[in-house]
Amino acid sequence: MSTTTFRSVALLGATGNLGSKILAALNTAGYTVTAIQRKDSKNVASGAANSLKVDLTSESGLTEAFKGQDVVVSAVPNPVLATEKVWMDAAVSAGVKRIVLSEYSTNLETKLSQALPIVKDKLEIRKYAETLGSSGKIGWSSVNGGPFFVPFIWTSGWMGANPKTKKASYHDGGNKIVCTSTLERIGESVAKILAPEHAAETKNKSIYTYSAPVSERKITDIIAKITGSNFSETNSSIDEVTKDAFAAFEKGDMSKMMHFYIPFCFGDGYGGDFRDQAWNEKLGLKEMSDKEVEDMFRSFLSKKNGA
Ligand SMILES: NC(=O)c1ccc[n+]([C@@H]2O[C@H](COP(=O)([O-])OP(=O)(O)OC[C@H]3O[C@@H](n4cnc5c(N)ncnc54)[C@H](OP(=O)(O)O)[C@@H]3O)[C@@H](O)[C@H]2O)c1
Repeated sequence: MSTTTFRSVALLGATGNLGSKILAALNTAGYTVTAIQRKDSKNVASGAANSLKVDLTSESGLTEAFKGQDVVVSAVPNPVLATEKVWMDAAVSAGVKRIVLSEYSTNLETKLSQALPIVKDKLEIRKYAETLGSSGKIGWSSVNGGPFFVPFIWTSGWMGANPKTKKASYHDGGNKIVCTSTLERIGESVAKILAPEHAAETKNKSIYTYSAPVSERKITDIIAKITGSNFSETNSSIDEVTKDAFAAFEKGDMSKMMHFYIPFCFGDGYGGDFRDQAWNEKLGLKEMSDKEVEDMFRSFLSKKNGA
């Protein structure tokens, strides 16, 4: 069997929350990373071997920037087909071998999740990449790890506990499992899927990985143990939240778009618990232990309290 060896990676969004972790993981894995930044960006892509400021709306400018690169990875925020198509076409013109889409979402493979308005743009981009892939012009991959395992999601009280208000919101009882990933795990996963031993098998596929399967109650219990607080609980029906969000959306009211993340993560049949389709084992990625999860929350909470 022939091996695919990638050495150089151009990274869009290298200075972002997630992009900076992808950059670090690619560096650790030995890739030469060129950060592709917006022309007027003042951000510093620390750790990148090179940094190029490019007009991201210019296909010819991007083609020039991608020449000699094996892979282009995108980690830009709010990706939409109109903008992502430009760099994907440029990657084809430059002779890049693999593109990695800015997905980093939860389960995009189920019919139920595909019907949610929050994933419309990512699905359009995926479809375009699939067309490029099946025409043999380039290979694509994506990495999905569930909701980020970060404080703004898990200590906001939106899903589970808010340690400041001592309130916890649960959905369908709070015991539904979703797979969640630290930004480091997502970075590691991007590096792994491009490695010579996995590059061929990850071609034209979306790869699911995670750090830990968690529930709203599990995280609340951990936060309660660390802080010694008691949490007052509210419980909502996922069906009701979803119906209500669709009713608003259909009237043109976008104020409830975030509510779609509740069925996306915890709804039956949406696939938020994707352990059975995850590549953790194949890629050699260990699940976090309960102790590691608890330690991570201790660190989140001590930073929040300025301790
Ligand atoms: N699963 C989850 O829970 C979750 C949560 C948040 C985000 N995401 C996904 O993760 C991916 C990356 O999002 P992120 O939040 O990490 O991105 P981010 O930190 O907001 O931005 C990443 C970088 O993208 C570059 N960039 C390119 N075009 C840009 C534009 N039009 N506006 C602003 N910055 C632009 C900027 O770098 P330069 O200045 O160097 O050009 C910026 O530093 C997206 O696919 C997003 O949907 C997932």
